[in-house]
Amino acid sequence: MVRSYFIAAAVAALGLAATDAAFAQETVKIGFILPMTGQQQSTGKQEAAGIKLYMAQHGDTVAGKKIELIIRDDAAVPDNTKRIAQELIVNDKVSFLAGFGVTPAALSVAPLSSESKTPEIVTAAGTSIITEKSPYIARTSFTLAQSTVPMADWAADNGIKKVVTMISDYAPGVDAEKSFTAEFKKKGGDVIESIRFPLANPDFAPFLQRAADEKPDAIFVFVPSGQGGTFVKQFVERGLDKAGIKIIGPGDVMDDDLINGMGDAVIGTVTAHIYSADHNSPLNKEFVAAFEKANNGMRPNFMAVGGYDGMHLIYEALKKAGGKTDGDSLIEAIKGMSWESPRGPISIDPQTRDIVQNIYIRKVEKKNGQLYNVEFATFPAVKDPVKAAEQK
Ligand code: PHB
Repeated sequence: MVRSYFIAAAVAALGLAATDAAFAQETVKIGFILPMTGQQQSTGKQEAAGIKLYMAQHGDTVAGKKIELIIRDDAAVPDNTKRIAQELIVNDKVSFLAGFGVTPAALSVAPLSSESKTPEIVTAAGTSIITEKSPYIARTSFTLAQSTVPMADWAADNGIKKVVTMISDYAPGVDAEKSFTAEFKKKGGDVIESIRFPLANPDFAPFLQRAADEKPDAIFVFVPSGQGGTFVKQFVERGLDKAGIKIIGPGDVMDDDLINGMGDAVIGTVTAHIYSADHNSPLNKEFVAAFEKANNGMRPNFMAVGGYDGMHLIYEALKKAGGKTDGDSLIEAIKGMSWESPRGPISIDPQTRDIVQNIYIRKVEKKNGQLYNVEFATFPAVKDPVKAAEQK
């Protein structure tokens, strides 16, 4: 009697524990840390819209689990990013950390990702080194070298001989400057001056004057998403376009989010990038239409696509891991994954966990009264050149 009572109680307790565990496992939390305020807020706005569109299209249940999306604002200040990441790991017990509008924010989380074995999905930042800072980091954004090397090749092959480089003085800008200069010189081009300006609230005018005085064929520029409008305005105000100086660079400066406000002076500008809202594929047309509909006509830029693809990566990792939610199973599932994005075919390099993607050369044109980056040449399946050189 007594014995069977104990057995019954034990079985009941086990049953309860099992239900508890099942219940706990039923929700998977995904913590995105994004700059929703401050200088990089356009990145946060675009990323969040991309993430929410993915969920609206694909539902909030994956591999039998309910997805809970948490979006926290770090204003692109790395101390905030780190504190929020700690809270998300310890209090919320997220299965993924994702987002990061700038490189210093992504880097600040890398040690936490390693220690806690939490996958860190970088959907916006672009410095090559980020993915090397934790074995649990994967990226759906881009690297600066990825678009810059094709840009240097195109410029050298198309009559541009003398270039001044102008970059925001922080890690992705330095990556862009270094990779452009090395490739352009290798192809016989000349970099006559290298100018760096501060990331925060830059006044480009004095730097543009210095560049103009050198009478280059082109200015190679990197500014982070959100700053291109001001750069172009000051470029035109100082008459550099009339002086016949071209703008070239990674497409961050010709951001889809801002390009319509830049005016006809940018028509003909050639840049190299991972995404244009004008990308000609049925999937992208569907994506742009759905995005604009859900966001009061806002056009998606490359950050929106980084967020959208980040969610795809997370959903597919959960499915591939067959219900497991530990960091090791998830990061294994991510390695080598490939799919069609609104930007074209992409994959995650199984060795480096970095993104492999097409780089498109595009020219600004007016279509139906709107300015677009129209793609006209493709460098297929480009790996991050910095890591590709290390792998050799
Ligand atoms: C970065 O901080 O890594 C970053 C931010 C915005 C960009 C590109 C790179 O457009």
